[in-house]
Amino acid sequence: MVSVRFLLKDILFYPDDVLRKVSSPVESHEFGSPMKKFIEELYSSMDKANGIGLAAPQVGVLKNVLVYKTVGEKEEVNDYLINPKITYTEGNTLVEEGCLSLPGVFAKVPRSVKITIEAQDFEGKPFTKTTECFSSIVIQHETDHLVGKLFVDKLSLMKRKMLLTKYNRNSRRN
Ligand code: NI
Repeated sequence: MVSVRFLLKDILFYPDDVLRKVSSPVESHEFGSPMKKFIEELYSSMDKANGIGLAAPQVGVLKNVLVYKTVGEKEEVNDYLINPKITYTEGNTLVEEGCLSLPGVFAKVPRSVKITIEAQDFEGKPFTKTTECFSSIVIQHETDHLVGKLFVDKLSLMKRKMLLTKYNRNSRRN
């Protein structure tokens, strides 16, 4: 058996190839304390980058794990999903999104309003969650990362070209 360690890199930026790869499910031997630690590291990478969501492939780990911020009673709290599957969607909305892997560019993309997700906790225990609005959009964005999709893929060809031109101009400047 392979010993379980998840090595974090810095956040990868578009057009890094890793962002286009399909991640694998977390397997039974990978749950437990190393997974808990990995999730904590993902939270800290997300916080350092001032993000509201981060998927494991964005730090070079091709596993179905994502973290996100949700709004608690008074403040934002960190949450996570392992092996998430969106099993139900309802409604349509257009929401402005950005991505830590494409800093500095934002665009409105179509999303569902309400979603139901089946996922597992860090010990492998399955659970179901239904969410709307803020968390729902972040989770849809992050689950796309797990199959190598980025929010720019949802734009028309012309809008995508404009946005990527702006992105490339920004990256040259920095
Ligand atoms: Ni993103």
